Amino acid sequence: MQEIKFYSGENIPLELHKVRIVQKLNLVPIERRLEALNEGGFNTFRLSTMDVFLDMLTDSGTNAMSDNQLAAMMQADDAYAGSQSFVRLQKAVEDVLGKKLLLPVHQGRAAENIIATAYIKKGSLVPMNYHFTTAMAHITQNGGKIAELLYDEAYKINSDHPFKGNMNIEKLEEVIRHHGANNIPFIRMEASTNLIGGQPFSVQNLRDVRAMADKYGIRLVLDASLLGENAYMVLKREAEFKDSNMGEILKIMTGMADLVYFSARKLSSSRGGGMCTDSMTIYKELEALVPLYEGFLTYGGISIREIEAMAVGLYETLDESMICQSPSFIKYLVEALDSKGIPVIKPAGVLGAHVDAMQFCAHIPQTEYPAGALASALFLISGVRGMERGSISNQRDEYGNETYADMELLRLAVPRRVFTLSQIKYVEDRLNWLYDNRLLIGGLRFVYEPPVLRFFMGGLEPTSDWPQKLMAKFKEDFGESL
Ligand code: F0G
Repeated sequence: MQEIKFYSGENIPLELHKVRIVQKLNLVPIERRLEALNEGGFNTFRLSTMDVFLDMLTDSGTNAMSDNQLAAMMQADDAYAGSQSFVRLQKAVEDVLGKKLLLPVHQGRAAENIIATAYIKKGSLVPMNYHFTTAMAHITQNGGKIAELLYDEAYKINSDHPFKGNMNIEKLEEVIRHHGANNIPFIRMEASTNLIGGQPFSVQNLRDVRAMADKYGIRLVLDASLLGENAYMVLKREAEFKDSNMGEILKIMTGMADLVYFSARKLSSSRGGGMCTDSMTIYKELEALVPLYEGFLTYGGISIREIEAMAVGLYETLDESMICQSPSFIKYLVEALDSKGIPVIKPAGVLGAHVDAMQFCAHIPQTEYPAGALASALFLISGVRGMERGSISNQRDEYGNETYADMELLRLAVPRRVFTLSQIKYVEDRLNWLYDNRLLIGGLRFVYEPPVLRFFMGGLEPTSDWPQKLMAKFKEDFGESL
């Protein structure tokens, strides 16, 4: 795709779509935002969208859908079994992801449930570049463990490494030798490694992982939820692929995996999920679990309308002018924050901008959840809803001890084609103000902690009256402004 330069020399991303349906947003006064935080246990998952201005919680199910996706939904062939909509989806999966056999599931974690149920038993170990919350929870629920095998560079906030999601190949071999290939049901590679800041891996790295999987006879499973953006990063950053197109790269990547699964809420800007493979053995190992947990094999718990949207959305991931929108806005935001000295994960990845709360709130100990505190503080002063991706999102170990996250991040998701540049500039502006007033942010403590995936519904409270003080300073500086 050709670069678009501005005469002024300004380096800003340009929207390559037009807005045809809009939704009104609410920007409520700061007093109401403080009430909302109290009602929601200082957990941004528990806020109502009535109180949220810019929803940067996630890109899951929130990417803007295209006119063609919406049009396709009208031709849904509603049938419990044998739906033609499913036939269209199968074709899209084969055309875009290159796999012939498809099992539909209602969303990404449902695939994780089925894969873990089929392959994980007590004593199993799954090497992966890095965990995702739900992937890990399903493996541990079934008695397995994970081994995270990134290179040290991945944990550096300020880096220029183009592929921080690469798996550490030397460590992978060490882990396989130490635990024995028999105890390793599969190796998991997560495209655009979510929890370390949406950082991609290279095709070369995937080739090296594939070689190791072949050497020891282990399955390779690819989490393709963010594969489109990972492929885009390969196109931009891996010299060998600079003249390739999205379709070629996607197929090269999926071609190396024995089993590919995905959240269609991300990959194809729709709802739903799926697992696909060319291996009839793997297909048969998983097949029976789909009707048991999800629904019949031609809908898998997904609305048939969404199946149509999914098929069209998969084809649209081949369009570089669509896939580049979110990463280019993220790059803009990351560079703008970085230029003001705000600690943010670099290089800019995909999915969102990731602010380093460990540095931003260096005065808050990890025991008081700096990333959760920063997420609450930003919501309070702006109505922008981000997501804590730090120790609150971690699960306790098998003995019930708190495990502190490698990184304490505030993730500001930039779903595809949802925000305008002035909205992104608002986020930048309020974060700049918050950074100048960061010492007013205080810690949080749990008052209600669910046993599994605690970050979703957990309740917290501030360790002091810091939210009131932060609000007072905001009003002093902004007067009557919202
Ligand atoms: N794998 C990855 C890499 C993900 O990012 C997600 C979801 C899943 C699996 C699970 O998929 O939500 O459809 O069940 N990530 C969302 C997020 C929730 O906000 O990052 P799901």
